[in-house]
Amino acid sequence: MKIIRSPNAMAAWSEGFIREGVKIGLVPTMGALHEGHRALIREARLRCDALVVSIFVNPTQFGPQEDLAQYPRPISQDQALCRKEGVDVCFEPTVKTMYPSGFQTMVTLPAIARRWEGEARPHHFSGVATVVTKLFGIVRPLIALFGQKDFQQSVLVRQLVKDLDLGVEIVVHPTVREADGLALSSRNIYLSPDDRIRAATLYKSLRAGAGVIREGMTDGATVQNAMVQVVKKEPTLTIDYLAVCDPTTLEPLSYVNSRAVLLGAVQLGAVRLIDNLLVAFPRRSSSRIEGFS
Ligand code: PAF
Repeated sequence: MKIIRSPNAMAAWSEGFIREGVKIGLVPTMGALHEGHRALIREARLRCDALVVSIFVNPTQFGPQEDLAQYPRPISQDQALCRKEGVDVCFEPTVKTMYPSGFQTMVTLPAIARRWEGEARPHHFSGVATVVTKLFGIVRPLIALFGQKDFQQSVLVRQLVKDLDLGVEIVVHPTVREADGLALSSRNIYLSPDDRIRAATLYKSLRAGAGVIREGMTDGATVQNAMVQVVKKEPTLTIDYLAVCDPTTLEPLSYVNSRAVLLGAVQLGAVRLIDNLLVAFPRRSSSRIEGFS
């Protein structure tokens, strides 16, 4: 496995392969790789000829009070995981080479970026869209994989690729979970042992919402209330949002009549947890809920 740090060297590597007709795949990450990333890498490995994993803790997507300085950076472990999974290149640019002095251009996003996560983290998605655009420009993949855990991010990345004609196929891989349902996240290491147990409540609340839909309830407010009641039983959790939304527009739904995404964000001590569940509701007799085992 090659480790490439300079964007120019990365672009040159890709150029050589693209000329030979090799299909390059990219898994963009901020490192601190876990089983969720491993699943993305394995899926990507099956779908491309040459696989690049980028590891870059992107400063432009962190707010001033957020955890940029503390964000875990276990780089040797990350490289070992990538090597084991048959990654061809670990692309590890520095902040200086990604944002050299004089850097000025940021991608602005549509209104859906201001909702949900965008409300709590106002510049977050612009930072994500900017770095993803840069990574696509440097690596020039034909396919890139993102985790469903960051559902709003995946919707925005698809919009970005469409609006800016970036020509990259976006694959969104299902969330990987702990046995109690907690979605894997690099930030879970911030949870104390007690909070780690409480953290699974968010997923339980999403399941409660999905269960209500499965029973035939289509009223958005009732589904939302079912989720809220579960979280309220755990007083250490503060709800930021629990919402029943259209999976494409992320607009709240008054009625669930086919597909919905249940979105949730809660604060637990210093840790902000987000999660989501996609619900398919084609017919009352055969409703199916994704994410249910
Ligand atoms: O999902 C992430 O880890 C990041 O937002 C991404 C897509 C790698 C951009 O920095």
